[in-house]
Amino acid sequence: MRVLTIIPTYNEIESLPITLGRLREANPEVDVLVVDDGSPDGTGAWADERSAADAKVNVLHRAEKNGLGGAYLAGFAWGLERGFDVLVEMDADGSHQPEQLPRLLDAIHGADLVIGSRRVPGGKMVNWPPHRKFISMCGSLYPRIMLGLDLTDITAGYRAYRAQVLREMDLGAVQSKGYGFQVDMTFRTARLGKRIVEVPITFVEREFGESKMSGGIITEAVTNVTKWGLQARWEKLRQLVSGR
Ligand code: GDD
Ligand code: MN
Repeated sequence: MRVLTIIPTYNEIESLPITLGRLREANPEVDVLVVDDGSPDGTGAWADERSAADAKVNVLHRAEKNGLGGAYLAGFAWGLERGFDVLVEMDADGSHQPEQLPRLLDAIHGADLVIGSRRVPGGKMVNWPPHRKFISMCGSLYPRIMLGLDLTDITAGYRAYRAQVLREMDLGAVQSKGYGFQVDMTFRTARLGKRIVEVPITFVEREFGESKMSGGIITEAVTNVTKWGLQARWEKLRQLVSGR
């Protein structure tokens, strides 16, 4: 099983070296792709140096900051072209512990998408401020109701996808830029009839740098989830009326 871990970065010069070091140490057989959006703090240049010294580390540069979703889509395309079997998403800031990656990879044997969840038994959040916990809770509850997804952590960013799922999906149609990207991808996976499994993780708030969460990111997610939920209901109603 060839595994690629994709790490999107924007101004993570203090965090990336630590996270990447831990990842290489804990999972030496796993390949890494850093997708940097021209970080002004030099994260991309640091990653290039690291890549020159370690064949397992690769870097993709994008010209400007264009959201988490776009960075992952570019990373998926890179990994699919190179024939990886499993594509993992991981934040650069240490919130997703590289030592817990084997939990996700064990579960991918019986699933198409594995989500590292903070809200299944055994899942934890360390040092996360109450307002982020609240936003995150709503961020899972609303799509759960609106999209009928029986999952506890729908915006979670620590995940493993089987390459086949991504190949079957129309990735060109995914437009979500912020954390709504995670909901978007989960909904698409569910609609393909794929098996989604949650495993507990310990999410640790970053020590260095800043979150890129913004009001715009929340608005995008809420607007889209509402739209997708209404579309799905409309579609059901139409089928009912036309007797199919
Ligand atoms: N290339 C690129 N471009 N990377 C980005 C961008 C961007 O526009 N925006 C964010 N990132 C990177 C960050 O550098 C980091 O490695 C990762 O994406 C997550 O960003 P954070 O800003 O640390 O996210 P967070 O801690 O607020 O949010 C966490 O919780 C969300 C809600 O559950 C993350 O785990 C998200 O994935 C999750 O959706
Ligand atoms: Mn973070």
